[in-house]
Amino acid sequence: MGHRQSKSAISNGKNKLSTNKVEKKKKFRSLRSPSNIQILTIDESLNETWRFTGSGKRIHSAKTSKLFNSISDKEIERLQRQHWFFKRIWQSNYSAPVEEKLKAGGAKVLDIGCGPGTWTIEMSEMYEQSTFTGVDFVSAFSKEMEPENVKFIQANILDGLPFLDDTFDFVHMGLLVTAFTATEFNEKVIPEIVRVTKQGGWIEFMESDIHYFNEGPTTMRLTNALTSFMKSKKILEPLNSYIPQSMEDNDKIQKGIQTEEKTCFVGSWAGDLGKMAVEDISNGWTAIKAPLSKAMKLKSQEYNELVVTFTKEVEQNKNSFKTWRFFAQKIGTMSVPDITTTSLQQ
Ligand SMILES: C[S@@+](CC[C@H](N)C(=O)[O-])C[C@H]1O[C@@H](n2cnc3c(N)ncnc32)[C@H](O)[C@@H]1O
Repeated sequence: MGHRQSKSAISNGKNKLSTNKVEKKKKFRSLRSPSNIQILTIDESLNETWRFTGSGKRIHSAKTSKLFNSISDKEIERLQRQHWFFKRIWQSNYSAPVEEKLKAGGAKVLDIGCGPGTWTIEMSEMYEQSTFTGVDFVSAFSKEMEPENVKFIQANILDGLPFLDDTFDFVHMGLLVTAFTATEFNEKVIPEIVRVTKQGGWIEFMESDIHYFNEGPTTMRLTNALTSFMKSKKILEPLNSYIPQSMEDNDKIQKGIQTEEKTCFVGSWAGDLGKMAVEDISNGWTAIKAPLSKAMKLKSQEYNELVVTFTKEVEQNKNSFKTWRFFAQKIGTMSVPDITTTSLQQ
């Protein structure tokens, strides 16, 4: 499973770390144990404040940090597994051309909506000389046990990020664009990300489609319900045109947004990755059960049955979905000298 692969990749990198840091990291992981996590029970009455951050593939989340101070251990584990699943699809953690800068050291990286911080910590282990900040409005990470080159901060991007202008070389946001209405995304999220990115720094979004290729009747019922829910919350899709367009419309981002796309097959017919996809997506449908079953006017058991039927249907229909990365550079003020001296060869 991606889970184990990722852990072994992490443990290879550990050899290089100081004993002190290894101890810190162990403690960090131990915090993921249920005894240390405050279990959050979602109250049906809070449904209205929830936002989907995507299809069944993603978490729903609270609209404000005032209601949710923590997150269940089960949800943390789902988000960690989801990260490893997407990492396996992409075979990498990012697409923007920032590797040299991160390797050289001293680069500053921001992960917005970091959840449990799985991406942030993996990146911090790959590039030990650079520093990483994870921000989320829910405290799913352990602030006390941050690795040395990581900082986790609880903040809602819609209230503004607690950083100075031009701070980060690379700003990453994975699987949460649909947590925002179109207006919030265009007028708050993108400008705030641009503000904290250095001139010439890179901005990257990773998202996945909420629709599947060759949807059967049950899959269509679920995705249609999700689409209607998103529409009712003024969340725009399709993401593969909406996100690059929003980036393109910001005059501080270089034109010519780069897009990369991967297709992931869903079902055990498609091998290990296909099995991971079914697990991830059905866990996602379960995670958004409260608001979606309410919107679909389904009883708890009826909704559960729908999810089971979904897992069978994908095997027959040989479904697939797309995931995208969109990345671009913040415009830098090119310092053009007033006087240009040309050396002439005599
Ligand atoms: C699907 S999770 C993705 C987590 C992580 N980026 C990953 O890929 O593993 C979305 C995360 O975004 C966070 N989030 C949603 N809206 C947010 C906001 N307005 N400000 C900060 N974090 C937010 C949620 O709390 C959740 O942890």
